[in-house]
Amino acid sequence: IPNTPLKNKKIMITAGPTQEAIDPVRYISNHSSGKMGISIAHEAAKRGAQVTLILGPTALKPELSSIRTVHVSSAQDMFEAAKTHHKQADVAIFSAAVADYRPEKPATEKIKKDQQVYAVSLVKNPDIAQYLGKQKRTEQFHIGFALETDEGSESAKNKLLNKNLDFIVLNTLLDPEAGFQKDTNKATLIFRNDEAIKTPVMTKEKLAKIILNQLETLIGTTENK
Ligand code: PMT
Repeated sequence: IPNTPLKNKKIMITAGPTQEAIDPVRYISNHSSGKMGISIAHEAAKRGAQVTLILGPTALKPELSSIRTVHVSSAQDMFEAAKTHHKQADVAIFSAAVADYRPEKPATEKIKKDQQVYAVSLVKNPDIAQYLGKQKRTEQFHIGFALETDEGSESAKNKLLNKNLDFIVLNTLLDPEAGFQKDTNKATLIFRNDEAIKTPVMTKEKLAKIILNQLETLIGTTENK
């Protein structure tokens, strides 16, 4: 492994969806496959980093055995695992599509279909990236994602600041070749000084390289100070 700035760095990556139980047989979730986060995990491991992947429920798994995978189901599980691993991490990358809400009181028995309308009351889940953004030490680096259904750059900029990220990767569902489950993505990397890098459509593996190149540049400029 070449001597890159990521060699031996501890990188924590959240990826995939979360599942929020309604009852023992049903849940609320989203379409994330974990591909984007797994691609970043592979690329970081290839660059010599010690990778911990905190992965929500998905059929996919990383192929490199050097990646330590922590399997989680709900947002609360992901939050607990992320808090544990963040303490030792040099870098945290938040690519998971965490459910923002969960059923307030999951039923302990299967819900019977005897009502025409069944309302489920939802309560907010912890925001993992925001919580850990508050714990972030000066020597740690945080990268987040923003998934929007419109252009979304304003909203991504707000997330960058609210979550105390070093940069954010904006992808939008407006692009047919971007987002959930696809092998490709198209993104805008937005930095704290308002600089932005727009990528064309490319494989998630290639985008992972671009994201980690930017991270290496940030680490390089900080270490040379
Ligand atoms: O998994 P794939 O099928 O490959 O799809 C990839 C992807 C589209 C899921 C990925 O590229 C992506 O955009 N991930 C973030 C999805 C998302 O939930 O975005 P958001 O804008 O709602 O969240 C903003 C940021 O806060 C994200 O870094 C997210 O991980 C984090 N977050 C959000 C809510 C929450 N409760 N906790 C969090 O940590």
